[in-house]
Amino acid sequence: MADRSVEDSGLPAEGSDWPAEGSDWPAEGSDWPAEGSARSPEGSGPEGSGSSLRRPPSGERPRRPVRPAAERARIVLPTPPLLPEHALLELLAAGDLELLGRLAGSSNNALLGVVRGVDPRPRQTDSGSSDPPGCVEAPVVYKPVAGERPLWDFPDGTLAHREVAAFLLSEATGWRHVPPTVFRDGPFGPGMVQLWVEADPSVDRVALVVGADPRLRPIALFDVVANNADRKVGHLLPTRDGAIVGVDHGICFHVEPKLRTVLWAWRGQPLTREEQARLTRLRELLEGGLARDLGAHLAPAEVDALRRRVERLLREPCFPEPDPDRPAIPWPPY
Ligand SMILES: Nc1ncnc2c1ncn2[C@@H]1O[C@H](COP(=O)(O)OP(=O)(O)O)[C@@H](O)[C@H]1O
Ligand SMILES: [Mg+2]
Repeated sequence: MADRSVEDSGLPAEGSDWPAEGSDWPAEGSDWPAEGSARSPEGSGPEGSGSSLRRPPSGERPRRPVRPAAERARIVLPTPPLLPEHALLELLAAGDLELLGRLAGSSNNALLGVVRGVDPRPRQTDSGSSDPPGCVEAPVVYKPVAGERPLWDFPDGTLAHREVAAFLLSEATGWRHVPPTVFRDGPFGPGMVQLWVEADPSVDRVALVVGADPRLRPIALFDVVANNADRKVGHLLPTRDGAIVGVDHGICFHVEPKLRTVLWAWRGQPLTREEQARLTRLRELLEGGLARDLGAHLAPAEVDALRRRVERLLREPCFPEPDPDRPAIPWPPY
């Protein structure tokens, strides 16, 4: 069990609903860019996602859970169960979702929770007879679509779907650095549910990035393929078993080039044969079922743009250089 301290449990009280419309939105002239302002499309938003916020038309403002807790809440998370991946995905998709708190600082109202379901593993007693099935639970992040902040350059209500598409892509490439992620209904409506992965707090993530840790190279290439507009240091989670997991892929897969990342250490370097082989395999998968699976979460033009990025990387097998006409690094970079 991991004992997690969150600054802000932030959930509406029992029986209450989301806050009233507009109750928690920035006042006119605060941190929203003015209508028709000359703000650079590539400029960073108030929380630096890199994609600028746009003011939602009145009446269409998404609601989000607020009511920050006055006290720090101590939340105890279960250890993720050792299930085969298909069973874990089933648990994420169909388990009962209980919310525990809101992640402080999340710009899209990410919520921390637990999913519970029936343990699919057979249980045997000493006498060899079968016991009734037990329960299994897993810690998760739930990002309801209703909590997404509108961005000027990404279609509204699509960020959770992009996170699921990123998981599918990471599985298809075999890099598998994105935690299992599904799209499902939840207490605040449809959204993405992703396995919570405990990061090892003793690892200096900035040092990993600055030192070009080789475990980050596949993530850097994934970001080129996915056109990730928001690869911050804080979206890299080193785990106790020595892996590095990537999270927050809500602004990937735009049709226009948007790559913004802290992982530029390999810029201009040729792709290895192994990397090229993975991309070749990815191109094949995109001819078949993978394109269909991604099509459930992305627009057809976005799947086509993904295909073109893979083809280009196979034609010119090098990590790209930063585009001098666009910000290369998300802000803030952490
Ligand atoms: N699956 C996860 N496992 C562990 N920590 C996570 C996970 N997803 C997000 N986090 C943590 O929560 C923070 C906020 O989540 P993030 O996905 O960045 O939300 P937002 O879309 O609001 O930017 C991340 O920076 C990361 O530290
Ligand atoms: Mg984030």
